[in-house]
Amino acid sequence: MINLTVDNIEVKVKEGTTILEAAKKAKIEIPTLCYLKDLNRPASCRMCMVDVGGKLLPACVTHASEGMEVKTHTKRLRNIRKTILELTLANHNCECTTCEKSGNCKLQTMANKYLTGPGEFEVEFEKGIDNSFSAVTRDLSKCIKCNRCVSMCSDKVGASAISLINRSEETTVATPFNIPIIHSDCIGCGQCITVCPTGALIERGTTEEIYDLLGEDTYYNICLLSHGTYETLAEGVGVDNALMKAKVVDVLNKLGFSEVIDYEEYLIKEMNAVAYLLKENMLEGKPLIYSCSSGIRREIEDVYPEADDLFVNLSKIRKDINTRFKEGYLDRNIDKDVHLTRVENCTAFLPETNETSGIDISITTRQLAKLIKTSGIDLNKADNKPLDNLDYTGVFNPYFLSVNTAYAIIRLGEKASIKNDKGNIKEFSFDLSDGKEIKCAVVNGLKASKEEVKKILDGESEYNFLCVIPCEGGCEFGGGRPVITK
Ligand code: SF4
Ligand code: SF4
Ligand code: FES
Repeated sequence: MINLTVDNIEVKVKEGTTILEAAKKAKIEIPTLCYLKDLNRPASCRMCMVDVGGKLLPACVTHASEGMEVKTHTKRLRNIRKTILELTLANHNCECTTCEKSGNCKLQTMANKYLTGPGEFEVEFEKGIDNSFSAVTRDLSKCIKCNRCVSMCSDKVGASAISLINRSEETTVATPFNIPIIHSDCIGCGQCITVCPTGALIERGTTEEIYDLLGEDTYYNICLLSHGTYETLAEGVGVDNALMKAKVVDVLNKLGFSEVIDYEEYLIKEMNAVAYLLKENMLEGKPLIYSCSSGIRREIEDVYPEADDLFVNLSKIRKDINTRFKEGYLDRNIDKDVHLTRVENCTAFLPETNETSGIDISITTRQLAKLIKTSGIDLNKADNKPLDNLDYTGVFNPYFLSVNTAYAIIRLGEKASIKNDKGNIKEFSFDLSDGKEIKCAVVNGLKASKEEVKKILDGESEYNFLCVIPCEGGCEFGGGRPVITK
Protein backbone atom coordinates (compact mmCIF):
# COMPACT_ATOMS: atom_id res chain seq x y z
CA MET A 1 0.00 0.00 0.00
CA ILE A 2 1.06 3.60 -0.63
CA ASN A 3 0.67 6.50 1.80
CA LEU A 4 0.22 10.03 0.50
CA THR A 5 -1.57 13.25 1.41
CA VAL A 6 -4.09 15.07 -0.74
CA ASP A 7 -4.74 18.62 0.47
CA ASN A 8 -3.23 17.54 3.80
CA ILE A 9 -5.62 14.58 4.14
CA GLU A 10 -3.79 11.27 4.63
CA VAL A 11 -4.80 8.55 2.16
CA LYS A 12 -3.70 4.94 1.80
CA VAL A 13 -4.11 3.44 -1.69
CA LYS A 14 -3.04 0.40 -3.67
CA GLU A 15 -0.05 0.56 -5.98
CA GLY A 16 -1.10 1.71 -9.46
CA THR A 17 -3.80 4.08 -8.14
CA THR A 18 -3.87 7.45 -9.90
CA ILE A 19 -3.82 10.74 -7.99
CA LEU A 20 -7.36 11.33 -9.25
CA GLU A 21 -8.57 8.09 -7.66
CA ALA A 22 -6.61 8.76 -4.46
CA ALA A 23 -8.21 12.22 -4.21
CA LYS A 24 -11.63 10.66 -4.69
CA LYS A 25 -10.89 8.36 -1.78
CA ALA A 26 -10.16 11.46 0.31
CA LYS A 27 -13.51 12.87 -0.92
CA ILE A 28 -11.76 15.61 -2.89
CA GLU A 29 -13.05 16.28 -6.37
CA ILE A 30 -10.50 17.22 -9.02
CA PRO A 31 -12.11 18.67 -12.18
CA THR A 32 -11.82 16.59 -15.35
CA LEU A 33 -13.02 16.97 -18.92
CA CYS A 34 -11.41 14.26 -21.03
CA TYR A 35 -11.07 11.50 -18.43
CA LEU A 36 -13.41 8.52 -18.74
CA LYS A 37 -12.95 5.82 -16.13
CA ASP A 38 -11.29 2.65 -17.44
CA LEU A 39 -11.63 3.82 -21.02
CA ASN A 40 -10.10 7.11 -22.04
CA ARG A 41 -6.72 8.33 -20.84
CA PRO A 42 -5.38 10.75 -23.44
CA ALA A 43 -4.73 13.39 -20.73
CA SER A 44 -5.46 16.01 -23.36
CA CYS A 45 -7.53 18.61 -21.50
CA ARG A 46 -5.19 19.17 -18.50
CA MET A 47 -8.08 20.35 -16.31
CA CYS A 48 -7.03 17.81 -13.71
CA MET A 49 -3.57 19.34 -13.12
CA VAL A 50 -2.40 19.11 -9.52
CA ASP A 51 0.64 20.42 -7.69
CA VAL A 52 3.09 17.82 -6.36
CA GLY A 53 5.97 19.59 -4.61
CA GLY A 54 5.77 22.51 -7.06
CA LYS A 55 5.58 20.23 -10.11
CA LEU A 56 2.37 20.27 -12.18
CA LEU A 57 1.06 16.82 -13.09
CA PRO A 58 -2.18 15.53 -14.68
CA ALA A 59 -3.98 13.67 -11.88
CA CYS A 60 -5.89 11.34 -14.23
CA VAL A 61 -2.76 9.57 -15.51
CA THR A 62 -0.18 10.10 -12.76
CA HIS A 63 0.17 7.27 -10.28
CA ALA A 64 0.30 8.04 -6.58
CA SER A 65 3.65 7.31 -4.92
CA GLU A 66 4.86 6.93 -1.35
CA GLY A 67 5.05 10.20 0.59
CA MET A 68 3.52 12.33 -2.20
CA GLU A 69 2.07 15.65 -1.05
CA VAL A 70 -0.63 16.65 -3.50
CA LYS A 71 -2.34 20.02 -3.64
CA THR A 72 -5.46 20.16 -5.78
CA HIS A 73 -6.96 23.63 -5.43
CA THR A 74 -4.20 26.27 -5.12
CA LYS A 75 -4.44 29.75 -6.66
CA ARG A 76 -1.93 28.72 -9.33
CA LEU A 77 -4.05 25.68 -10.27
CA ARG A 78 -7.20 27.76 -10.36
CA ASN A 79 -5.55 30.19 -12.80
CA ILE A 80 -4.35 27.31 -14.98
CA ARG A 81 -7.86 25.82 -15.11
CA LYS A 82 -9.27 29.24 -15.91
CA THR A 83 -6.88 29.66 -18.87
CA ILE A 84 -7.55 26.13 -20.13
CA LEU A 85 -11.29 26.80 -20.07
CA GLU A 86 -10.92 30.17 -21.80
CA LEU A 87 -8.86 28.51 -24.54
CA THR A 88 -11.38 25.67 -24.87
CA LEU A 89 -14.29 28.10 -25.07
CA ALA A 90 -12.43 30.12 -27.72
CA ASN A 91 -12.77 27.06 -29.97
CA HIS A 92 -16.32 26.22 -28.98
CA ASN A 93 -19.68 27.44 -30.20
CA CYS A 94 -21.12 28.94 -27.02
CA GLU A 95 -24.75 29.21 -28.15
CA CYS A 96 -25.71 27.63 -24.84
CA THR A 97 -29.18 29.14 -24.66
CA THR A 98 -30.37 27.06 -27.62
CA CYS A 99 -28.21 23.97 -27.09
CA GLU A 100 -30.05 20.69 -26.31
CA LYS A 101 -27.38 19.93 -23.72
CA SER A 102 -27.68 23.22 -21.85
CA GLY A 103 -28.04 22.65 -18.12
CA ASN A 104 -26.44 19.25 -18.47
CA CYS A 105 -23.14 20.11 -20.15
CA LYS A 106 -19.86 19.36 -18.38
CA LEU A 107 -18.09 22.26 -20.09
CA GLN A 108 -20.83 24.69 -19.06
CA THR A 109 -20.64 23.43 -15.46
CA MET A 110 -16.85 23.96 -15.41
CA ALA A 111 -17.17 27.43 -16.93
CA ASN A 112 -19.74 28.35 -14.27
CA LYS A 113 -17.35 27.16 -11.56
CA TYR A 114 -14.13 28.75 -12.76
CA LEU A 115 -14.96 31.72 -15.02
CA THR A 116 -16.56 35.00 -14.15
CA GLY A 117 -16.47 36.84 -17.50
CA PRO A 118 -15.50 36.52 -21.16
CA GLY A 119 -11.99 35.27 -21.93
CA GLU A 120 -9.19 37.19 -23.65
CA PHE A 121 -8.86 34.89 -26.65
CA GLU A 122 -10.31 35.40 -30.08
CA VAL A 123 -13.22 33.03 -30.69
CA GLU A 124 -12.93 30.79 -33.74
CA PHE A 125 -14.52 27.37 -33.99
CA GLU A 126 -14.93 24.57 -36.50
CA LYS A 127 -18.25 24.49 -38.32
CA GLY A 128 -20.32 21.63 -39.66
CA ILE A 129 -23.36 19.60 -38.68
CA ASP A 130 -23.90 15.99 -39.69
CA ASN A 131 -27.54 15.18 -39.11
CA SER A 132 -27.71 12.39 -41.65
CA PHE A 133 -28.66 9.83 -38.97
CA SER A 134 -31.43 10.28 -36.41
CA ALA A 135 -29.70 8.04 -33.86
CA VAL A 136 -26.67 10.30 -33.53
CA THR A 137 -26.08 13.75 -34.98
CA ARG A 138 -22.78 15.60 -34.77
CA ASP A 139 -22.20 19.32 -34.32
CA LEU A 140 -18.50 19.98 -34.88
CA SER A 141 -18.77 23.55 -33.58
CA LYS A 142 -19.29 22.19 -30.07
CA CYS A 143 -16.62 19.49 -30.07
CA ILE A 144 -13.72 20.01 -27.65
CA LYS A 145 -11.66 17.09 -29.02
CA CYS A 146 -11.64 15.23 -25.72
CA ASN A 147 -11.61 11.81 -27.46
CA ARG A 148 -14.20 10.29 -25.14
CA CYS A 149 -16.59 9.39 -27.97
CA VAL A 150 -13.79 7.79 -29.99
CA SER A 151 -12.72 5.60 -27.05
CA MET A 152 -16.31 4.58 -26.39
CA CYS A 153 -17.00 3.76 -30.03
CA SER A 154 -13.82 1.81 -30.73
CA ASP A 155 -12.87 0.29 -27.35
CA LYS A 156 -16.26 -0.45 -25.83
CA VAL A 157 -18.77 -0.71 -28.69
CA GLY A 158 -16.22 -2.01 -31.18
CA ALA A 159 -17.63 -0.06 -34.12
CA SER A 160 -14.79 2.43 -34.84
CA ALA A 161 -17.21 4.66 -36.74
CA ILE A 162 -15.41 7.84 -35.67
CA SER A 163 -11.82 8.76 -34.90
CA LEU A 164 -9.63 11.75 -34.07
CA ILE A 165 -7.76 12.89 -37.17
CA ASN A 166 -5.14 15.56 -37.96
CA ARG A 167 -2.90 17.31 -35.45
CA SER A 168 -2.72 20.38 -33.29
CA GLU A 169 -5.29 23.06 -34.24
CA GLU A 170 -6.47 20.93 -37.15
CA THR A 171 -7.48 18.04 -34.85
CA THR A 172 -11.04 16.96 -35.37
CA VAL A 173 -13.39 14.00 -34.89
CA ALA A 174 -14.36 12.46 -38.21
CA THR A 175 -15.85 9.42 -39.87
CA PRO A 176 -13.62 7.60 -42.41
CA PHE A 177 -13.19 9.91 -45.46
CA ASN A 178 -15.57 12.31 -43.73
CA ILE A 179 -18.60 10.47 -45.08
CA PRO A 180 -21.99 11.23 -43.46
CA ILE A 181 -22.29 9.15 -40.28
CA ILE A 182 -25.27 7.23 -41.65
CA HIS A 183 -22.94 5.70 -44.27
CA SER A 184 -20.21 4.88 -41.73
CA ASP A 185 -19.98 1.78 -39.54
CA CYS A 186 -22.10 3.54 -36.87
CA ILE A 187 -24.71 1.19 -35.40
CA GLY A 188 -26.71 3.98 -33.76
CA CYS A 189 -26.15 2.76 -30.21
CA GLY A 190 -25.78 6.33 -28.88
CA GLN A 191 -23.12 5.33 -26.35
CA CYS A 192 -20.90 8.16 -27.65
CA ILE A 193 -23.69 10.62 -26.76
CA THR A 194 -23.71 9.45 -23.15
CA VAL A 195 -20.03 10.31 -22.72
CA CYS A 196 -19.77 13.52 -24.77
CA PRO A 197 -19.23 16.33 -22.26
CA THR A 198 -20.83 18.93 -24.56
CA GLY A 199 -23.67 19.20 -27.06
CA ALA A 200 -21.45 17.99 -29.92
CA LEU A 201 -23.26 14.64 -30.03
CA ILE A 202 -26.98 14.30 -29.57
CA GLU A 203 -29.83 12.28 -31.05
CA ARG A 204 -31.98 14.01 -33.63
CA GLY A 205 -35.40 15.25 -32.62
CA THR A 206 -36.12 17.96 -30.15
CA THR A 207 -38.68 18.57 -27.48
CA GLU A 208 -40.26 21.10 -29.88
CA GLU A 209 -41.03 18.40 -32.44
CA ILE A 210 -42.64 16.26 -29.75
CA TYR A 211 -44.78 19.18 -28.57
CA ASP A 212 -45.91 19.70 -32.19
CA LEU A 213 -46.85 16.05 -32.46
CA LEU A 214 -48.84 16.13 -29.23
CA GLY A 215 -50.58 19.33 -30.30
CA GLU A 216 -51.82 17.68 -33.51
CA ASP A 217 -55.52 17.07 -32.84
CA THR A 218 -56.00 14.68 -35.77
CA TYR A 219 -53.91 12.12 -33.83
CA TYR A 220 -54.97 9.80 -31.04
CA ASN A 221 -51.60 9.64 -29.31
CA ILE A 222 -50.62 6.45 -27.52
CA CYS A 223 -47.39 6.13 -25.58
CA LEU A 224 -45.68 2.74 -25.14
CA LEU A 225 -43.75 2.94 -21.91
CA SER A 226 -41.26 0.34 -20.79
CA HIS A 227 -40.72 -0.49 -17.08
CA GLY A 228 -36.99 -0.08 -17.65
CA THR A 229 -37.54 3.62 -18.26
CA TYR A 230 -38.96 4.62 -14.85
CA GLU A 231 -35.61 4.73 -13.15
CA THR A 232 -33.82 6.59 -15.92
CA LEU A 233 -36.72 9.04 -16.28
CA ALA A 234 -36.64 9.67 -12.53
CA GLU A 235 -32.89 10.26 -12.73
CA GLY A 236 -33.28 12.59 -15.70
CA VAL A 237 -36.04 14.64 -14.07
CA GLY A 238 -34.29 14.53 -10.68
CA VAL A 239 -37.06 12.90 -8.66
CA ASP A 240 -37.51 9.75 -6.65
CA ASN A 241 -38.15 6.47 -8.56
CA ALA A 242 -41.35 5.65 -6.71
CA LEU A 243 -42.75 9.11 -7.39
CA MET A 244 -42.00 8.79 -11.11
CA LYS A 245 -43.57 5.35 -11.28
CA ALA A 246 -46.77 6.49 -9.57
CA LYS A 247 -47.23 9.75 -11.48
CA VAL A 248 -45.78 9.22 -14.94
CA VAL A 249 -49.07 8.11 -16.55
CA ASP A 250 -50.90 11.23 -15.38
CA VAL A 251 -47.98 13.41 -16.48
CA LEU A 252 -48.01 11.81 -19.95
CA ASN A 253 -51.81 12.24 -20.14
CA LYS A 254 -51.37 15.91 -19.25
CA LEU A 255 -48.71 16.23 -21.94
CA GLY A 256 -51.23 15.00 -24.53
CA PHE A 257 -51.05 11.19 -24.64
CA SER A 258 -54.56 9.70 -24.56
CA GLU A 259 -53.28 6.32 -23.42
CA VAL A 260 -50.07 5.06 -21.85
CA ILE A 261 -49.62 1.35 -22.53
CA ASP A 262 -47.48 -1.05 -20.58
CA TYR A 263 -44.73 -1.82 -23.07
CA GLU A 264 -43.76 -5.02 -21.25
CA GLU A 265 -47.20 -6.49 -22.02
CA TYR A 266 -46.77 -5.40 -25.59
CA LEU A 267 -43.27 -6.84 -25.70
CA ILE A 268 -44.56 -10.26 -24.73
CA LYS A 269 -46.51 -10.35 -28.02
CA GLU A 270 -43.27 -9.64 -29.81
CA MET A 271 -41.47 -12.26 -27.78
CA ASN A 272 -44.06 -14.89 -28.55
CA ALA A 273 -43.43 -14.37 -32.24
CA VAL A 274 -39.68 -14.69 -31.67
CA ALA A 275 -40.19 -17.83 -29.58
CA TYR A 276 -42.22 -19.32 -32.42
CA LEU A 277 -39.34 -18.70 -34.84
CA LEU A 278 -36.92 -20.21 -32.34
CA LYS A 279 -39.02 -23.35 -32.24
CA GLU A 280 -39.03 -23.58 -36.05
CA ASN A 281 -35.28 -23.08 -36.26
CA MET A 282 -34.63 -25.64 -33.53
CA LEU A 283 -36.69 -28.19 -35.41
CA GLU A 284 -34.54 -27.51 -38.47
CA GLY A 285 -31.38 -27.69 -36.37
CA LYS A 286 -30.60 -24.00 -36.90
CA PRO A 287 -29.85 -21.33 -34.29
CA LEU A 288 -31.72 -18.01 -34.18
CA ILE A 289 -30.04 -14.61 -33.88
CA TYR A 290 -31.93 -11.68 -32.39
CA SER A 291 -30.98 -8.04 -32.23
CA CYS A 292 -32.98 -5.00 -31.22
CA SER A 293 -30.55 -2.85 -33.20
CA SER A 294 -30.93 -2.83 -36.96
CA GLY A 295 -27.51 -1.13 -37.11
CA ILE A 296 -25.63 -4.00 -35.48
CA ARG A 297 -27.41 -6.48 -37.75
CA ARG A 298 -26.47 -4.43 -40.83
CA GLU A 299 -22.81 -4.30 -39.80
CA ILE A 300 -22.68 -8.04 -39.09
CA GLU A 301 -24.33 -8.87 -42.41
CA ASP A 302 -21.89 -6.61 -44.24
CA VAL A 303 -19.17 -9.05 -43.21
CA TYR A 304 -21.28 -12.24 -43.07
CA PRO A 305 -24.18 -11.88 -45.56
CA GLU A 306 -25.04 -15.56 -45.03
CA ALA A 307 -26.14 -14.70 -41.45
CA ASP A 308 -29.21 -12.92 -42.87
CA ASP A 309 -31.16 -16.16 -42.92
CA LEU A 310 -30.61 -16.66 -39.17
CA PHE A 311 -31.65 -13.20 -37.97
CA VAL A 312 -35.12 -12.49 -36.62
CA ASN A 313 -36.86 -10.00 -38.92
CA LEU A 314 -37.93 -7.80 -36.06
CA SER A 315 -39.26 -4.95 -38.20
CA LYS A 316 -41.68 -7.34 -39.88
CA ILE A 317 -42.88 -8.72 -36.53
CA ARG A 318 -43.30 -5.23 -35.13
CA LYS A 319 -45.06 -3.96 -38.22
CA ASP A 320 -47.51 -6.86 -38.01
CA ILE A 321 -48.20 -6.37 -34.29
CA ASN A 322 -48.54 -2.60 -34.61
CA THR A 323 -50.86 -2.83 -37.61
CA ARG A 324 -53.14 -5.25 -35.72
CA PHE A 325 -52.90 -3.11 -32.62
CA LYS A 326 -53.96 0.02 -34.50
CA GLU A 327 -56.76 -1.87 -36.28
CA GLY A 328 -58.18 -2.72 -32.85
CA TYR A 329 -59.02 0.98 -32.43
CA LEU A 330 -61.30 0.97 -35.49
CA ASP A 331 -63.90 -0.94 -33.44
CA ARG A 332 -63.74 1.70 -30.74
CA ASN A 333 -64.90 4.42 -33.16
CA ILE A 334 -61.95 6.63 -32.46
CA ASP A 335 -62.26 9.18 -35.18
CA LYS A 336 -58.55 9.97 -35.32
CA ASP A 337 -55.31 8.49 -36.63
CA VAL A 338 -53.88 6.21 -33.96
CA HIS A 339 -50.32 7.38 -33.47
CA LEU A 340 -47.82 5.24 -31.57
CA THR A 341 -44.94 6.81 -29.68
CA ARG A 342 -42.42 4.53 -28.00
CA VAL A 343 -40.15 5.64 -25.16
CA GLU A 344 -36.91 3.73 -24.68
CA ASN A 345 -33.46 4.20 -23.18
CA CYS A 346 -32.27 3.59 -26.69
CA THR A 347 -31.21 5.57 -29.76
CA ALA A 348 -31.02 2.55 -32.07
CA PHE A 349 -34.84 2.59 -32.35
CA LEU A 350 -34.97 6.20 -33.52
CA PRO A 351 -34.62 5.50 -37.27
CA GLU A 352 -37.73 3.26 -37.19
CA THR A 353 -40.81 4.73 -38.85
CA ASN A 354 -44.42 3.83 -39.43
CA GLU A 355 -43.39 2.30 -42.77
CA THR A 356 -40.63 0.12 -41.33
CA SER A 357 -42.13 -1.00 -38.01
CA GLY A 358 -45.50 0.64 -37.44
CA ILE A 359 -44.09 2.84 -34.65
CA ASP A 360 -44.78 6.42 -35.64
CA ILE A 361 -42.16 8.05 -33.48
CA SER A 362 -39.57 6.81 -30.99
CA ILE A 363 -38.20 9.11 -28.35
CA THR A 364 -35.47 8.55 -25.83
CA THR A 365 -35.94 8.79 -22.08
CA ARG A 366 -33.43 11.65 -22.28
CA GLN A 367 -35.85 13.56 -24.53
CA LEU A 368 -38.90 12.66 -22.45
CA ALA A 369 -37.17 13.69 -19.22
CA LYS A 370 -36.43 17.08 -20.77
CA LEU A 371 -40.02 17.36 -21.96
CA ILE A 372 -41.34 16.65 -18.45
CA LYS A 373 -38.90 19.09 -16.88
CA THR A 374 -39.84 21.90 -19.26
CA SER A 375 -43.60 21.21 -19.16
CA GLY A 376 -44.14 22.96 -15.84
CA ILE A 377 -46.11 19.95 -14.56
CA ASP A 378 -45.57 19.40 -10.84
CA LEU A 379 -45.11 15.66 -10.33
CA ASN A 380 -46.03 15.94 -6.67
CA LYS A 381 -49.45 17.30 -7.57
CA ALA A 382 -50.09 14.75 -10.36
CA ASP A 383 -52.51 11.88 -9.73
CA ASN A 384 -51.44 8.29 -9.13
CA LYS A 385 -52.52 6.34 -12.21
CA PRO A 386 -51.85 2.81 -13.45
CA LEU A 387 -50.75 2.05 -16.99
CA ASP A 388 -53.49 1.37 -19.53
CA ASN A 389 -54.08 -2.21 -20.61
CA LEU A 390 -53.02 -3.51 -23.94
CA ASP A 391 -56.19 -3.98 -25.97
CA TYR A 392 -54.93 -6.47 -28.50
CA THR A 393 -55.44 -10.08 -29.48
CA GLY A 394 -52.51 -11.25 -31.53
CA VAL A 395 -52.28 -14.43 -33.53
CA PHE A 396 -48.97 -15.50 -32.10
CA ASN A 397 -48.89 -18.26 -29.59
CA PRO A 398 -45.76 -20.29 -29.22
CA TYR A 399 -47.27 -23.47 -27.67
CA PHE A 400 -43.67 -24.08 -26.97
CA LEU A 401 -42.27 -21.73 -24.41
CA SER A 402 -44.18 -20.22 -21.56
CA VAL A 403 -44.70 -16.51 -21.95
CA ASN A 404 -42.36 -15.91 -19.05
CA THR A 405 -39.64 -17.97 -20.68
CA ALA A 406 -40.02 -16.19 -24.00
CA TYR A 407 -39.92 -12.90 -22.14
CA ALA A 408 -36.85 -13.90 -20.18
CA ILE A 409 -34.96 -14.94 -23.28
CA ILE A 410 -35.46 -11.64 -24.94
CA ARG A 411 -35.00 -9.55 -21.84
CA LEU A 412 -31.51 -10.93 -21.80
CA GLY A 413 -31.98 -13.64 -19.30
CA GLU A 414 -32.91 -11.30 -16.51
CA LYS A 415 -35.42 -13.85 -15.21
CA ALA A 416 -33.12 -16.78 -15.87
CA SER A 417 -30.09 -17.57 -13.85
CA ILE A 418 -26.90 -16.70 -15.70
CA LYS A 419 -24.88 -19.88 -15.94
CA ASN A 420 -21.71 -18.35 -17.23
CA ASP A 421 -20.66 -14.74 -17.11
CA LYS A 422 -17.78 -14.29 -19.54
CA GLY A 423 -17.73 -10.49 -19.36
CA ASN A 424 -19.32 -9.38 -22.61
CA ILE A 425 -20.98 -12.78 -23.14
CA LYS A 426 -23.58 -14.06 -20.70
CA GLU A 427 -24.79 -17.62 -21.10
CA PHE A 428 -28.00 -19.08 -19.76
CA SER A 429 -30.33 -21.91 -20.65
CA PHE A 430 -33.90 -23.15 -20.25
CA ASP A 431 -35.21 -26.67 -19.92
CA LEU A 432 -38.19 -27.57 -22.07
CA SER A 433 -40.95 -29.98 -21.03
CA ASP A 434 -39.62 -32.62 -23.45
CA GLY A 435 -36.28 -32.59 -21.65
CA LYS A 436 -34.49 -30.54 -24.32
CA GLU A 437 -32.43 -27.54 -23.35
CA ILE A 438 -32.33 -24.15 -25.10
CA LYS A 439 -28.84 -22.75 -24.87
CA CYS A 440 -28.83 -18.97 -25.03
CA ALA A 441 -26.26 -16.22 -24.93
CA VAL A 442 -26.33 -12.45 -24.90
CA VAL A 443 -23.30 -10.74 -26.36
CA ASN A 444 -22.43 -7.04 -26.05
CA GLY A 445 -20.60 -4.90 -28.57
CA LEU A 446 -20.08 -5.19 -32.30
CA LYS A 447 -16.67 -6.88 -32.24
CA ALA A 448 -17.69 -9.70 -29.89
CA SER A 449 -21.01 -10.08 -31.74
CA LYS A 450 -19.25 -10.58 -35.06
CA GLU A 451 -17.01 -13.22 -33.47
CA GLU A 452 -19.99 -15.14 -32.08
CA VAL A 453 -21.89 -14.98 -35.38
CA LYS A 454 -18.80 -16.29 -37.18
CA LYS A 455 -18.65 -19.24 -34.75
CA ILE A 456 -22.31 -20.00 -35.52
CA LEU A 457 -21.66 -19.89 -39.27
CA ASP A 458 -18.57 -22.10 -38.87
CA GLY A 459 -20.61 -24.62 -36.85
CA GLU A 460 -18.48 -23.98 -33.77
CA SER A 461 -21.21 -22.55 -31.53
CA GLU A 462 -23.52 -24.49 -29.28
CA TYR A 463 -26.06 -21.69 -28.83
CA ASN A 464 -29.64 -22.16 -30.04
CA PHE A 465 -30.37 -18.52 -29.46
CA LEU A 466 -27.91 -15.63 -29.69
CA CYS A 467 -28.93 -12.12 -28.74
CA VAL A 468 -26.54 -9.46 -30.03
CA ILE A 469 -26.81 -6.02 -28.47
CA PRO A 470 -24.63 -2.93 -28.75
CA CYS A 471 -24.86 -1.77 -25.14
CA GLU A 472 -23.12 -3.35 -22.18
CA GLY A 473 -25.65 -4.17 -19.46
CA GLY A 474 -28.64 -4.25 -21.84
CA CYS A 475 -31.39 -1.78 -22.63
CA GLU A 476 -31.29 -0.14 -19.20
CA PHE A 477 -27.86 1.23 -20.11
CA GLY A 478 -28.82 2.26 -23.64
CA GLY A 479 -27.46 5.35 -25.34
CA GLY A 480 -30.79 7.20 -24.96
CA ARG A 481 -30.73 7.40 -21.18
CA PRO A 482 -30.35 10.82 -19.56
CA VAL A 483 -26.80 12.05 -19.25
CA ILE A 484 -26.16 13.20 -15.72
CA THR A 485 -23.31 15.68 -15.42
CA LYS A 486 -21.84 15.70 -11.98
S1 SF4 B 1 -23.68 5.73 -32.00
FE1 SF4 B 1 -22.43 3.95 -31.30
S2 SF4 B 1 -21.52 3.16 -33.18
FE2 SF4 B 1 -22.28 5.21 -33.69
S3 SF4 B 1 -20.53 6.59 -33.40
FE3 SF4 B 1 -21.65 6.53 -31.44
S4 SF4 B 1 -20.67 4.88 -30.22
FE4 SF4 B 1 -20.03 4.62 -32.38
S1 SF4 C 1 -17.75 14.83 -29.98
FE1 SF4 C 1 -17.96 15.11 -27.74
S2 SF4 C 1 -16.96 13.31 -26.84
FE2 SF4 C 1 -16.29 13.42 -28.98
S3 SF4 C 1 -14.35 14.53 -28.91
FE3 SF4 C 1 -15.98 16.04 -29.32
S4 SF4 C 1 -16.57 16.81 -27.30
FE4 SF4 C 1 -15.39 14.92 -26.95
S1 FES D 1 -8.97 14.89 -17.18
FE1 FES D 1 -6.84 14.63 -16.90
S2 FES D 1 -6.02 15.54 -18.66
FE2 FES D 1 -8.15 15.65 -19.02
